[in-house]
Amino acid sequence: MNEPILAYLPGSPERAELQQRLAQMSSQRIHIPLVIGGERVETGTTFEAVMPHKHAHVLADVERGDASHVERAIAAAGRAHETWSRTPWHERVAVFLRAAELLSGPWRSTLNAATMLNQSKTVHQAEIDASCETIDFLRYNADYLVRIYGEQPVSSQGVWNRMEYRALEGFVLAISPFNFTAIGANLTTSPALMGNTVVWKPASTQALSAWYTMRLLEEAGLPPGVINLVFGPGAEIGAAALSSPDLAGVHFTGSTGVFQGIWRTIGSGIDRYRNYPRIVGETGGKDFILAHPSADPAEVSAAVIRGSFEYQGQKCSASSRLYIPSNLWSDVRDTLQREVSQIAMGDVRDFTNFMGAVIDGSSFRTQVEAIAEAREAGAEIVVGGGSDDSEGWFVEPTVVETDDPGFRLLRDELFGPVVTAYVYDESRWDETLDLVDTTSAYALTGAVFADDRSAIEQAHDRLRYAAGNFYVNDKPTGAVVGQQPFGGARASGTNDKAGSMWNLIRWVSPRTVKETL
Ligand code: SER
Repeated sequence: MNEPILAYLPGSPERAELQQRLAQMSSQRIHIPLVIGGERVETGTTFEAVMPHKHAHVLADVERGDASHVERAIAAAGRAHETWSRTPWHERVAVFLRAAELLSGPWRSTLNAATMLNQSKTVHQAEIDASCETIDFLRYNADYLVRIYGEQPVSSQGVWNRMEYRALEGFVLAISPFNFTAIGANLTTSPALMGNTVVWKPASTQALSAWYTMRLLEEAGLPPGVINLVFGPGAEIGAAALSSPDLAGVHFTGSTGVFQGIWRTIGSGIDRYRNYPRIVGETGGKDFILAHPSADPAEVSAAVIRGSFEYQGQKCSASSRLYIPSNLWSDVRDTLQREVSQIAMGDVRDFTNFMGAVIDGSSFRTQVEAIAEAREAGAEIVVGGGSDDSEGWFVEPTVVETDDPGFRLLRDELFGPVVTAYVYDESRWDETLDLVDTTSAYALTGAVFADDRSAIEQAHDRLRYAAGNFYVNDKPTGAVVGQQPFGGARASGTNDKAGSMWNLIRWVSPRTVKETL
């Protein structure tokens, strides 16, 4: 069963506890070290972790690691591998199930508060990520491990065959993004569950949640060196880790460009590694909502609002391009103008806000420039278009309408609250299926809305490679572990489905043993 989502209603005990934790974390400025072999490591230089919705407010000073710390972390991972990879699977599982229990109970408010403050998530978005999805990853992966280990070859008269699901030989490099605390937890714990040891480089903009995730795992009994936490500049940390002959795997979520760079580095230096590194990655998306002329415009509008603007559009699954037929557009446009202009945006400690700020100044500029580009190109700003970075990096939820199906904003990922709509002639459904399939290089998520069953079947068939997670009459965000295994192909990643057996299987190197009796 998935972890139940708490509502944090006024007067509820969970709300009181979370508010207390938010107040406490907001009033202190903590120090966050690296964690290498279980030891707290200082590096001599730090960077600041801030609140995106109030960027002058510093939450923590975070140690900035360099190549030498990566080398120490790899050595610590190597030492831990000796025992952890031999630790009976049920003991490893116990650590992560204990972490799930702690997070379901006393740790919940801590991880939610850290995610709200440093990543600017509203209470609901933090709850479904830092608490529920993280707990689900921990619990479901434990079940999947048992199913993998149970898969055994046939033995015959006088011969005993067996598969031993060894950990990979070497360390796994986990690189996590800012947008989901649960992704950082899964990128590290899924290889660790299978007996691997990990060097973890989280995004600098998720430092607070990464630190508390690490401490939660330690409290649950994770032995020193199994996961080693190294903050620092991505290029330097990545280069040091990728140059090690002991690199056995990369578990990555982030941008397409960085992931392609990792492939290139590994490929061009392939003879340096003892093993061919497993490369598992989820990268960008340019996720679509496609409405058929038979769709319900109210349902489409509701999906756009939640799919495009929850967490400021910073989910890799967020809908960022819309294909709306001409017969529905005036209805959808009116609803979006009315509803989107009412969206409350601000400090996430005010629980009535629906949106916080985008993650940093760089993302803010990307959104502002995209809106300016739309204006210059003569596209219509249907709603929104404003921005203000004086206190926090706030970008209004924005809908752009273009009559150019090849417009850049329909192709490139912006990772923010700017969605672009293309209105197609309602008689051109067939051509529109091709447009959806070919306009963007990505293929992560997508949603089709239709009442007409044959249109749903057509979209299902013609768009079969356009999305790894395909939604029918639902928004394209909010995949639930165990229910909708998550990931996409094409430029969106290796599609090894986070929170599934297909992901865990990448972190084992089976040995086949034949024994004559
Ligand atoms: N799994 C998330 C979702 O489906 C995105 O990473 O929204």
